[in-house]
Amino acid sequence: MSPVVSRRKLLAALGQSGAALAAGSWLSGTRFAAQSRGPARAFLNQALFRSDLDRRLLGSFLEHLGRAIYTGVYEPGSRLADAKGFRTDVIASVKGLQVPMMRYPGGNFVSGYNWLDGVGPKNKRPTVLERAWNSLETNQFGTNDFMDWCKLVSTEPLLGFNLGTGTPEMAVAYVEYCNLDKGTKWSELRRSHGYEQPHNVRYWCMGNEMDGPWQMGHMTAREYGRKARDTARQIRVIDRGLQLIACGSSNTILPTYLVWDREVLEECYDQVDGISLHNYYGNTKELTGENTSRFLAMNLDMERQIREIAAVCDYVQGVTKSSKRLWLSFDEWNVWYRARGGPFSDGKRAVAPKLLEEVYNLEDALLVGGFVNTLLRQSERVRVGCLAQIINVIAPLVTNETSVLRQSILYPYAWALKYAHGRVLDLRVESETYPIKADGLRADFARNEQVPFLDVAATINRQNGQVCVLMLNRDLEAERELVLEWRDPTPTRVLACETLTGPDLKAFNTFEQPNRVVPRPLEPPSPGARMAFKLPPRSYSVAHIATS
Ligand code: AHR
Repeated sequence: MSPVVSRRKLLAALGQSGAALAAGSWLSGTRFAAQSRGPARAFLNQALFRSDLDRRLLGSFLEHLGRAIYTGVYEPGSRLADAKGFRTDVIASVKGLQVPMMRYPGGNFVSGYNWLDGVGPKNKRPTVLERAWNSLETNQFGTNDFMDWCKLVSTEPLLGFNLGTGTPEMAVAYVEYCNLDKGTKWSELRRSHGYEQPHNVRYWCMGNEMDGPWQMGHMTAREYGRKARDTARQIRVIDRGLQLIACGSSNTILPTYLVWDREVLEECYDQVDGISLHNYYGNTKELTGENTSRFLAMNLDMERQIREIAAVCDYVQGVTKSSKRLWLSFDEWNVWYRARGGPFSDGKRAVAPKLLEEVYNLEDALLVGGFVNTLLRQSERVRVGCLAQIINVIAPLVTNETSVLRQSILYPYAWALKYAHGRVLDLRVESETYPIKADGLRADFARNEQVPFLDVAATINRQNGQVCVLMLNRDLEAERELVLEWRDPTPTRVLACETLTGPDLKAFNTFEQPNRVVPRPLEPPSPGARMAFKLPPRSYSVAHIATS
């Protein structure tokens, strides 16, 4: 991406002072400038953009965990199930969202998974003890079932293979089973299972969170890096062009953070295309001091993690003198801190136990909006992203026997899926800031002294000129004005304008009261070169705008 108009020229044209720019700290990487008072401003110019958006950035995740598969997407016997046992109401919900990519089958689950157990005639598939979540896995839903389901919801599969207890041989066999046309042991096995055509899966996760001591088959970075390299080299014999994602650090607090990534990549840089990042966030004593203003700034911690991992990739690229630049796969992210650990993670040897069923409130949804903004801003480097997860387990969608509930976090995600297309604009944002530093918090969060009240991201669809602007107001008390200053193009019509807000940050939806946290219309300003939005306190808003 090379901006056609230089930053200096643009600023001169807009009459903006250099002093405001100088005030920007590390946040200047986000094109943010601190401002002491007055309405916030965001400058839009389609000549300045960050990336052509790869929609895979807005993917999600479906793991064999708790009620995600069984009673989530698959429930034969339910009056809502189709002939294959898939829940039709869930299909409609996921398809309606237009989720571009779905990661499967795990997560921690994949590190003990034998994919062979989940293919072939259902009456021959074994029930096994699933050791990541101490559950019973019936294997009635497996890879081919997932592929069928992906077609029904119009999503692209992102498959993971087992590099924990699994061998490179079986990982490569899995790729062969899925992708090779015919004439070999594993491709013929697939055909004998009724799938004549290969699934042609392009993106693959090489294991899951192998840096984590909780992971089955956990190993050192060097051991994992060599195993990943060996596996990747064999996979390249099947298809050189597959996109292979190495396991990066699974959070920012493990002592191996960044060192793991460097060592793994020193072993396998030449054979992989991307590296994974994971993180989960919470409004806890340890992370935020249970302070919502600080909590709503956690997407900036995500932003820092992206930059730090990218820096490690570039370091290894330099050391290895490679011409290849790795992209990042933030393939697990979400708020998750209540239904976590202890009984929430122990399936007690049941089929489809209730695990990790986090209930999401308004403040969680606002932060999820912030994560969406961060991912869009960093889309030049982050190609794949997965909201973890899609259904029942830390999820925006929840099933009971008769319906699907939309949790609060669904809405910001759904807006991005619906409206964010085309190019991510390189916005310059000026906003007043507030302090978030405090003693006694975990060292990897809240590392900024000051953060802006307003967080803005935007895309432009160059086919139809439509712009999507996503706006987070972190101010818990006051409405804030945001002036969009348009250099090019000029808005002609506001097609949609909505906000997610409310008086109670802890409000959440239930099956009995599904509309406590839902979007409502936001009065848009008249379209034009200068548009002043009035953003309610503690809100996340979207404007979908037609331009000339
Ligand atoms: O998404 C829940 C779990 O969180 C995943 O299985 C694992 O990869 C992560 O630790």
